[in-house]
Amino acid sequence: MADNYLERREQELRESRPKVVRVHPSLESLLKRNRSYRGFDASREVSRQDLLRLLEVTRWIGSGMNAQPLRYRLVTGAEAALVHPLVKLGAALPEEHLPHPGEEPSAYIVACSEKTGRAVDIDLGIAAQSILLKAVEMGLGGVFILNFNPAALSEALSLPMPPIAVIAIGKPSENIFLVDARPGDSLDYYRKDGVHFVPKLPVEDILI
Ligand SMILES: Cc1cc2nc3c(=O)[nH]c(=O)nc-3n(C[C@H](O)[C@H](O)[C@H](O)COP(=O)(O)O)c2cc1C
Repeated sequence: MADNYLERREQELRESRPKVVRVHPSLESLLKRNRSYRGFDASREVSRQDLLRLLEVTRWIGSGMNAQPLRYRLVTGAEAALVHPLVKLGAALPEEHLPHPGEEPSAYIVACSEKTGRAVDIDLGIAAQSILLKAVEMGLGGVFILNFNPAALSEALSLPMPPIAVIAIGKPSENIFLVDARPGDSLDYYRKDGVHFVPKLPVEDILI
């Protein structure tokens, strides 16, 4: 061709770098997928390395007075079986809807603290939510647990300080859907035909 179109095009293609499209999940999509999972695929092991990746996010979060009072005990592999009977998942669910044997979390993160108080609790909430969001980003999921037996957990894991919360981690094996709650509706989560539903208040109902 008179204007060397083909040669120029070939050179352009040779010089152009391959396009790498990185897909970053939005915060909103991570939050929506970050449900409280109580049934897990036991065949997906969660390694100590996985848990360390989750804990890494706690280095970038706020802490009252920057005191950073939280310490973490990682529980993986066979040791997780020690924790299963000491935590209560889905206390509001009827017995038949509770997680079945074999669907237990693959791992746990036990948050501990020597200190107590409002700032410690708020630190805990920020840390737990950050860890759970990271878990979702990694294709895992979990549930934050306050309903556990602290004395028995301390003994089972030989904890050097009091446990204040447990975060279960695994590959979720259940479907959870959020539903809009209407004024006056019960906010209790429930299960229907094997699916877990969680009612959430719309923005207009949380304004005062
Ligand atoms: C402070 C706190 C304590 C919780 N404790 C437990 C618990 O002990 N056991 C449990 O199964 N779920 C527990 N959950 C999970 C809640 O039941 C769950 O967040 C709620 O049902 C809403 O579901 P969602 O997390 O999927 O939005 C806890 C959540 C929070 C924030």
